[in-house]
Amino acid sequence: MYTEREQAQQAAAYIKQRVGSAGVSMPDTAIVLGSGLGFLTDRMELGVRIPYEEISGFPISTVESHAGELCIGELAGKAVFAFSGRFHYYEGYDFRTVTFYVRVLHCLGVRTLILTNAAGGMNPDFKPGDLMLISDHIKLCADSPERGTADPFFGPRFFDMTETYTPRLRQLVKETASTLSLPIHEGVYCFMGGPQFETPAEIRALRLLGGDAVGMSTVPEAIVAARCGMQILGISCITNMAAGMIAGTHISDEEVTEVAGNASGRFSALVCAVLERMGNRSAV
Ligand code: HPA
Repeated sequence: MYTEREQAQQAAAYIKQRVGSAGVSMPDTAIVLGSGLGFLTDRMELGVRIPYEEISGFPISTVESHAGELCIGELAGKAVFAFSGRFHYYEGYDFRTVTFYVRVLHCLGVRTLILTNAAGGMNPDFKPGDLMLISDHIKLCADSPERGTADPFFGPRFFDMTETYTPRLRQLVKETASTLSLPIHEGVYCFMGGPQFETPAEIRALRLLGGDAVGMSTVPEAIVAARCGMQILGISCITNMAAGMIAGTHISDEEVTEVAGNASGRFSALVCAVLERMGNRSAV
């Protein structure tokens, strides 16, 4: 029986070996491509493409719209580990399984994690298709991906979450968006487990608590990355107004997928411009 650290190190060793034999340089940055951004891997100067099922310890992605492969190469001139498809709590995996890849990234020496997602808008100033930079998050459920054994290899048992979403990276996104004349909101992302969308009463409660957007991903990964000491950037595509925000409307996965697709041009332009500005020096 291997420990979690050994499992992560084994997966990292496999990835390292694949990267090495392709003659690609090891990135210090990883990006998770949420709904609508998966196509970005086609734009990469690709070194290696590894289906998740080849990486031991990776769960099987059960969401049709998420391809499930790790691409390593350059995107907008920046060497990255690009994850097309992620794992979700609503698929039945626990938080530790969902976030295993973040521990693997830590073993690979990754210092910066960029998390993208689709989210429902709770701030009445938002509209579908808008982008939101995550300034902070709220997770109401008691469970944590860090509950349980606390191997110091992955950071201290108790760790700070005061500036989880790195202020310097947020500033970079705001400057980049302004250069592109691309409006972007900044706000608080609330994690809900799904797979059901929220009730209007839940959305009213989350708004009262200070939430601006709601979604079913990102927060578990951000917690593990924070413990590992990574710099974190989170950007949401607002694909719909959250339940009850617009009287007489309902939320569907089709709407989420369609709006994410329509916004993907702007979203990917921003992400690529940010990567370009980060360059291949150490993380900005
Ligand atoms: N709620 C939760 N997750 C989501 C939503 C939503 O309204 N839209 C896209 N992902």
